[in-house]
Amino acid sequence: MIETNDFDLENRIVAPEVIKADTTDDVDLNLRPKTLDEYIGQEMVKENLKIYIEAAKKRGDTLDHVLLYGPPGLGKTTLSGIIAHEMGVNFRVTSGPAIEKPGDLAALLTNLQEGDVLFIDEIHRLSRAIEEVLYPALEDFALDIIIGKGPSARSIRLDLNKFTLVGATTRAGQLTSPLRDRFGVIQRLELYSKEELCDIIMRSSVILGVACDKEGAYELASRSRGTPRIANRFLKRVRDYADVMGNGKVTKEIVKIALDRMEVDDLGLDGLDRRLLTMMIKGYNGGPVGLETLASAIGEEAVTIEDVCEPYLMQLGFIARTPRGRCATELAYKHLGLLKDGQTTL
Ligand code: ADE
Repeated sequence: MIETNDFDLENRIVAPEVIKADTTDDVDLNLRPKTLDEYIGQEMVKENLKIYIEAAKKRGDTLDHVLLYGPPGLGKTTLSGIIAHEMGVNFRVTSGPAIEKPGDLAALLTNLQEGDVLFIDEIHRLSRAIEEVLYPALEDFALDIIIGKGPSARSIRLDLNKFTLVGATTRAGQLTSPLRDRFGVIQRLELYSKEELCDIIMRSSVILGVACDKEGAYELASRSRGTPRIANRFLKRVRDYADVMGNGKVTKEIVKIALDRMEVDDLGLDGLDRRLLTMMIKGYNGGPVGLETLASAIGEEAVTIEDVCEPYLMQLGFIARTPRGRCATELAYKHLGLLKDGQTTL
């Protein structure tokens, strides 16, 4: 396998964030389930949401504000769209960094109709000034607007339609507590099991019109890092290999050929993951090593390592987080074919 060092993160094939290859054309939008029944996995979250949605509808009320958190690519936006669909209301989408001024948020809020779902992605990136505008909106469905300056300034209260805020974040810990406290429903999304990913891949292959057998789907699922966005992206790439090198059918053999060529190994690790683990083992004797030290040693941002590499490496049991830093486990040594002293096994 060829190892490359110059990662183009925007195009990293195992990036769980949206990359250029994930176009949002009609086909991609079609891959997104529209109802809770169509949505595969996250069973606890689904069960809970079903009850909250049904109860709100029974009372003729809006749904309480919802916070969804967890690693990227697991379907937080999809789930929010489903909430709006199930409630029978409009779905408005924005993100923390897109709301630059309090006026931007005021414009969004005043345009909401009764019961609408306002989705704010990366809600941990809202500025303090904007959070201040959000508090009365969430609590009392009102905007406090200051008119004028200096001694003649007056505050007027503008009533808003009742709405549901769905906030999404990869880092719930970074939310200020006054903001976190205003969500009535807080749900964590978990990485998907291989079986769930397999079902998602089979569903997507029907929608995309790609022939895919069970073994092919399972092999793809095994390499998709518990993340549907990665699984769906792989499916589209592997289809290209199947069309050119096979008979159009996605089989285990074709998946292996395609993903080996994309430098994604049998567990879904790419060059960045391997570089991280190798640095921990060869550079720091397997750890413990601090996140920032590790990040600068491999020339990567700490947040990328924390949000993107670590959740999956921890799920695999390849790294452990201790108070003194990160440690590589024996499983990681084994996977990379390295001995305790960092030498390659024969
Ligand atoms: N596509 C992406 N995520 C999905 C999910 N959780 N269920 C069904 N299809 C999906």
